[in-house]
Amino acid sequence: MYINFWYPVCTTEELSRDAPWQVRLMGLRFVAFRDSRGKPHVLSDICIHRGGSLGKGAITGNSLACPYHGWQFDGDGKCHKIPSAGDSKPPARAKVDAYPTQEKYGIVFAFLGDLPENERPPLYEIPEYDAEGWRPSKTIILNVNCYYERSMENGLDPTHNEFVHPAQGFPPMHKETFKTWDEAWGTRFEAYFGDPVLDRTTFAKERNVTGELRAGSWFHGPNVLVTSIFVNAKSNLVQYLFEAPIDEGHTKIYFINLRNFVLDPAMDQKVMDVNLRITSEDIGILENLYPVRTPDSPTLELMTSSDAIVLKYRTWLESWKQRGWRIDWRKLKQEQGDVAYVIPSPARRESGNWVLPVVPLMPAES
Ligand code: FES
Ligand SMILES: [Fe+2]
Repeated sequence: MYINFWYPVCTTEELSRDAPWQVRLMGLRFVAFRDSRGKPHVLSDICIHRGGSLGKGAITGNSLACPYHGWQFDGDGKCHKIPSAGDSKPPARAKVDAYPTQEKYGIVFAFLGDLPENERPPLYEIPEYDAEGWRPSKTIILNVNCYYERSMENGLDPTHNEFVHPAQGFPPMHKETFKTWDEAWGTRFEAYFGDPVLDRTTFAKERNVTGELRAGSWFHGPNVLVTSIFVNAKSNLVQYLFEAPIDEGHTKIYFINLRNFVLDPAMDQKVMDVNLRITSEDIGILENLYPVRTPDSPTLELMTSSDAIVLKYRTWLESWKQRGWRIDWRKLKQEQGDVAYVIPSPARRESGNWVLPVVPLMPAES
């Protein structure tokens, strides 16, 4: 798991104005709340006084009050009131980590890392979301008992389709049928077929769809996966998965589906049903992979040239590890319960004097 990327924290609906929302991400505790203007904030969910859970506290105006002794923290993590200290100013160390947020596509995202704004990988933009002629689904939540990198790799794997999704009528895939290229924060592949392959599916038969299929998937950062399928020259389905690693065995996936055909809202449920059926086939595989986390050594799996895009994903992960962004998961797990670790926030680059230590990270390589 990697710091310094945007992660989904909760849906817009989950984060009411009245109560904070607790969430676990990368094995750590976070809390989201809205201030009096409705702006979302995300903080570390560990009170630096004596370990209270801010997420069990109450929103008071623009602050979150710890339920234990009532210390109040504002949206940028600073404690501005310690009730037992009367009118005295809280000490400079009375602060928790606060993370930049964005609310888009019905999702609250937080940037979990300490990079200054101009160095941050961007939150992925969905170009079709507000575009004319496109219909977005509502955001679906999938809670999957798997490691998020396994899920990402599944989406980047064209060769599983004919076996895991036989009803879709995908043709056999091999390395000659697809090409790949790099983008700023990931790699893309597209597959082309001369035959009107989808006309073998029920979906296509019902609509008399024929023509060349062009399909592709790509990733942006470690946790955003996009799949685009042209069922004919004009009809395009695009799927976005924003993945939130809860811990090594659990992932919460925020799934958005868009289409530029059968735009009738009455078709939403039918399209979603097809998507969810395909997704449940993937989940059946993912929840049974072993080991749960991807092995550390490439020699512990036997990859072939048709796994090229998965290998590309791992190469990118390695490059982010070399930057010092990879969490040392084994160390974190060993010490969890004894030490309250936090992901460093951007404010740590500007001031010292923090109470809680930064999560163990694999050393950067130059
Ligand atoms: S533990 Fe939060 S105020 Fe004491
Ligand atoms: Fe699949």
